[in-house]
Amino acid sequence: MISKATIDKIFSTIRVEEIIGEYVQLKRAGSNFKGLSPFHEEKSPSFVVSPSKQIWKDFSSGKGGTAISFLMEIENFTYPEALRHAAKKYGIEIEEDIRELTEDEKQSQTDKELLFKIHEVANTFFQEQLFDTEEGRSIGYSYFKERELRDEIIKKFQLGYSPEQKNAFTESALNKGYSKEILEKSGLSIFPENSPNGIDRFRERVIFPIHSFSGRVLGFGARILKNNIKTAKYLNSPETEIYHKSNVLYGLNQSKQAISKNNLCLLVEGYMDVIALHQSGIENVVSSSGTALTVEQIKLIKRLTENVTILFDGDKAGIKASFRSIDMLLSESMNIRVLLFPDGDDPDSFARKHPQDYVENFIKNEAKDFIDFKAEILLKEAGDDPIKKAESIRDIVKSVGFVQNALKQEIYLKEVSNKFKLSEQSLFNELNVQKQLQKQHVSPQQRQETQVKPRLEKVTEVFETINSLLMLEDKLVDLMLNYGDRVLDRKDDENKPYQITVIEEIINHLDEDECEIQSEINKKIISEIKEGIAENKLRFGNFFMTLMDEDIQGKIADALIEPYELSNWEKYSITPIKPGSKLSEQISETLFKYKRDYVLKIVEDLKKELVSAENKDEIYMKLVKLSQLKNKLSEVTHRIL
Ligand code: CTP
Ligand code: MN
Repeated sequence: MISKATIDKIFSTIRVEEIIGEYVQLKRAGSNFKGLSPFHEEKSPSFVVSPSKQIWKDFSSGKGGTAISFLMEIENFTYPEALRHAAKKYGIEIEEDIRELTEDEKQSQTDKELLFKIHEVANTFFQEQLFDTEEGRSIGYSYFKERELRDEIIKKFQLGYSPEQKNAFTESALNKGYSKEILEKSGLSIFPENSPNGIDRFRERVIFPIHSFSGRVLGFGARILKNNIKTAKYLNSPETEIYHKSNVLYGLNQSKQAISKNNLCLLVEGYMDVIALHQSGIENVVSSSGTALTVEQIKLIKRLTENVTILFDGDKAGIKASFRSIDMLLSESMNIRVLLFPDGDDPDSFARKHPQDYVENFIKNEAKDFIDFKAEILLKEAGDDPIKKAESIRDIVKSVGFVQNALKQEIYLKEVSNKFKLSEQSLFNELNVQKQLQKQHVSPQQRQETQVKPRLEKVTEVFETINSLLMLEDKLVDLMLNYGDRVLDRKDDENKPYQITVIEEIINHLDEDECEIQSEINKKIISEIKEGIAENKLRFGNFFMTLMDEDIQGKIADALIEPYELSNWEKYSITPIKPGSKLSEQISETLFKYKRDYVLKIVEDLKKELVSAENKDEIYMKLVKLSQLKNKLSEVTHRIL
């Protein structure tokens, strides 16, 4: 583990503008730098770097943080990897703090490094087998040739071959000094009791290495060579400490630049589909490799683009299962199109049959939006049955419910209305029914499992209160982060002047009324601030930079970067806190508004409780008192304003 002293040294030495400058062309803009977002294709710069605050903010994706979190984003580094990378760049020597590691942690850290290493070794081994051995050439290489792969593409995807001899790789790795334990952990070898020399998991198969975003080998997929054998066509690495299949997309490393350049990601099903499309010059493609698409995978794509076209085999029986992927992509705010290949073709066979232009145009012209796609599949199935037809429409409206942007949602609903000659009102009602159903039938846990979040359509009164409470809570935290150490001149009840810091005043107020903080991030930040007070230190602004929490990093960047320096900040409806003499009024005002909304929230909670409560009288009493309190607070707020 990197020692705290080294981490501090790194943070005080590195310059965010220098580190980011290696990836983004930055231009001065006032006290900040601006540039084009490296995470999105964009024409006007919305990426801001503040040298004075040592943070960055990407307004196109909402991401932001320190130089270290930038490295984590762009290189897919872990926190320690990013620290090490930065330390190297600035010639900072890393002091390891071994005392702080437990035995288990030490073990798992070295295990992880060994796992990366053994995968590198295996990857080289399999490629050498393919090109440099007779067996490899005559079986593996000729298989790839049968599938019409050219050498350069075989090399680009580092394809390999694992020979017939049942422990060829295991033996070679043991000879190199790797232990049985690590070989077993990697999933590359198995050591059954009757085979002490081990067995290669992937023997007699061609090998497809699976890379991380930044190009490290995490695992393998391996295909048998004959189609008629009754064993599984593909074998894949098991889950290990470095390979979590739900967090990986096959081909992402080789495709990331093309995806971001084209501002479009093609999503296919298989290894060969990715490779064949690359060979025909279409390089913006990834595969979820036979598993159902996950939210983590969608987030990986989202770093590069918000546009996805799903390419399906034409004869795919499980196409309806893919509807779930559509809903998930929609609820992650992705724009999607869907393309079915003609019967019997998958992207691999189609790409081999036709020239690049033809395939490109086919994808561009034949891909449908999800409404047309679902309609086609479902209506074909429904035939003339009116009940089934209604069910199909309901199914489509359900998907519209997952669209995150209200305007887009309305446009899609219009499309459904035109397509089926149904009134928008009845569709809108249906949409709300669907949402109620989702709320009732899906337990929170299930919802978390599927990770599909339906949008809250109707903004109810309660929702509004909570929303504004959250905003005020955010503003209080922003004030503490930005101006925590400023000293305010106040007067107590007896009109005696006293001084207090911004942090202390806000914290005192929150504590006094035992206000429960609503957002998890704010909770974390406030608890850090309180810990600081206990140690007699004011923790604000840059203090939070060395904390590793990604959410906190984003939040700090949000709070510290001045959005009004951007030409189009209104788009994000951010009301900046204006520095200066008004600070003390701003704080009082925000605190009172916050308290008023907090009371409103308690009132709403109590009203809900009232419906099923036995002690109704007690609750009524509380409500009366709260309403008086609310009026008082409103009065005060009015006076201040
Ligand atoms: N898959 C798997 N295990 C299997 C079958 C499939 O992991 N037993 C995964 C593989 O990632 C495969 C993808 O699902 O690439 C799609 O399966 P399929 O369409 O059957 O494979 P193709 O890629 O078309 O394989 P090929 O063209 O080599 O037959
Ligand atoms: Mn195929």
